[in-house]
Amino acid sequence: MTLWKHPVFAIIQSALCISGVVSVSSRDENQQKCADVNTESLGIANATVWFSEFIEAGTNLTFPDNHLSCSRPSVLVSKDLCRVALQVETSEESRISLEAWLPAKWNKRFLSTGNGGWGGCIQYEDLEYTSSLGFATVGANNGHNGTSGESFLNAPEVVKDFAWRSVHTGVVVGKQITKTFYARNFTKSYYLGCSTGGRQGMKSVQSFPGDFDGVVVGAPALAFNRLNGWSAHFYGLTGTPDSDTFVPVNLWTTIVHDDILRRCDELDGYKDGIIEDVTLCNYRPESLICTPGQNSSTCLTGKQADTVRKVFEPLYGENGTFVYPRMQPGSELTGAAVVSYAGTPFSSDWYKYAVHNDASWDPATVGVEDYALASKLNPGDIETFNGDLSEFRDNGGKLLHYHGQEDAIITSENSPWYYNHVSRTMELPSSELDSFYRFFRISGLAHCTGGSGAGFIGQKSQANAGTKPEQNVLMAMVDWVENGKAPDTILGTAVVPGSASGSSGIGKVAFKRRHCRYPYRNVYSGEGDATDPDTWKCI
Ligand SMILES: *[C@@H]1O[C@H](CO)[C@@H](O)[C@H](O)[C@H]1NC(C)=O
Ligand SMILES: *[C@@H]1O[C@H](CO)[C@@H](O)[C@H](O)[C@H]1NC(C)=O
Ligand SMILES: *[C@@H]1O[C@H](CO)[C@@H](O)[C@H](O)[C@H]1NC(C)=O
Ligand SMILES: *[C@@H]1O[C@H](CO)[C@@H](O)[C@H](O)[C@H]1NC(C)=O
Ligand SMILES: *[C@@H]1O[C@H](CO)[C@@H](O)[C@H](O)[C@H]1NC(C)=O
Ligand SMILES: *[C@@H]1O[C@H](CO)[C@@H](O)[C@H](O)[C@H]1NC(C)=O
Repeated sequence: MTLWKHPVFAIIQSALCISGVVSVSSRDENQQKCADVNTESLGIANATVWFSEFIEAGTNLTFPDNHLSCSRPSVLVSKDLCRVALQVETSEESRISLEAWLPAKWNKRFLSTGNGGWGGCIQYEDLEYTSSLGFATVGANNGHNGTSGESFLNAPEVVKDFAWRSVHTGVVVGKQITKTFYARNFTKSYYLGCSTGGRQGMKSVQSFPGDFDGVVVGAPALAFNRLNGWSAHFYGLTGTPDSDTFVPVNLWTTIVHDDILRRCDELDGYKDGIIEDVTLCNYRPESLICTPGQNSSTCLTGKQADTVRKVFEPLYGENGTFVYPRMQPGSELTGAAVVSYAGTPFSSDWYKYAVHNDASWDPATVGVEDYALASKLNPGDIETFNGDLSEFRDNGGKLLHYHGQEDAIITSENSPWYYNHVSRTMELPSSELDSFYRFFRISGLAHCTGGSGAGFIGQKSQANAGTKPEQNVLMAMVDWVENGKAPDTILGTAVVPGSASGSSGIGKVAFKRRHCRYPYRNVYSGEGDATDPDTWKCI
């Protein structure tokens, strides 16, 4: 008899269960338990188990079957877990690939991850992150493989998977797997996702209010049909790189960005290259127009200034109707800015393959009729802009929403737009919304990760500076759901670029800053070391 099977240890183990973590016996037993998982043992409708394998901590797991465009060749698994891979039929014409990562040391919680972009990729790094924290975690491929929207062509069922069914199916199936595998129920259910993943979480809150107790969403792709019109419209503003309206990337990242900071950085009381409240920045590019004889790499032509001005204006559609909020100023440095302003069609797959259902549709022609058509068709019911969250609230659900203020892929101004829409729809001021919905503006954070400020808030493994609730959005959510302690601020960490060493350790801490929940904004008190979070306050 091994020590672990000794009765004394059984008592210690059940004591451990009571203390919060279910540690199911020895590695050998876990291995056996994992090997026993199969289609029949699970007995879930439409679900076929491909394989189930025990992964030891320290394994460099590779994904040879994964679509190349997913660029996720491997992940280092840090805790013992059982990896179950399945296929689940979602209709006669569609199916999802789903994985459940079931940690040997389970914290009795269930969690679903989301996707990104056109999203036909299981986000293995997220599965690793949350399963290493003890969550029984699922992730799906969103109904298709690879990062293109081509799979939507003539495939309404695949569109439906992408819009909502992949995540919801993953939750229904994942909860069953969790209960069967551990032979007991989970305590609470969570969601963590950003970008498309942010939209998926919001969709769940709006349409499947019973799926989660706690939902953490970042940079959500809200009002998806309109967002994609907004994304596609930049090409029409910039023109191709050889046109006179085009602003070369180096002008964006030097003179335009510098001028924006000159005018808006100190609105928060401190000059550090980070704008705390971008909604206060009403930028005027005309002061950059060239004087006679000025070197053209240090100024703008009138046409270029016009392009810059229009980039920072909201998008309007037919008859002057509002379509989407403006790009926030200040995000010019991130690589993403280059994507929106690069003079090539950006993010046109939705209109091409789902709205027009026509691979030959020319994204250069995008205009007001397309925005209206997309909203009217709303393929797969993807819009995700319902402002009534009362069912979610009445179920006891909590929603933590964050958005980086240097996001150049999905403008951060869509988030207060939605938050205020919820406030008006439910007729609740912030003091009331606070009981179940809190929105945090993360200064210096680009799209989900990256950026110039304190953007490590535990939203991803590569942006995790620690698991204390005050500094980690996921653990803050657990504290809110399970202990009733709602976060008032999120403590972000900024890391010296390039200082991360190896896979462990986040790198050298540059400074920390507390991010405020909307509608509060962060200002420097004017006294003391600004790298000390206590010198800032939410007003
Ligand atoms: C894991 O394996 C892949 C493929 O062999 C390799 O490229 C990668 O560097 C390895 N990762 C680690 C952390 O060792
Ligand atoms: C199972 O698949 C069928 C189509 O093949 C579908 O109609 C049905 O909704 C699916 N059931 C579940 C529980 O997903
Ligand atoms: C996605 O890729 C997996 C693994 O190669 C494959 O089994 C599955 O059928 C693919 N799914 C779709 C919808 O093509
Ligand atoms: C399992 O736990 C969840 C979350 O607490 C709860 O909603 C559900 O009713 C439980 N199911 C059973 C069968 O006890
Ligand atoms: C214009 O400015 C750029 C960047 O400062 C410099 O490299 C270039 O030599 C200048 N051209 C002229 C004609 O002065
Ligand atoms: C714009 O106005 C025209 C004419 O009144 C109307 O037919 C059309 O539906 C309107 N479009 C939108 C998006 O409101």
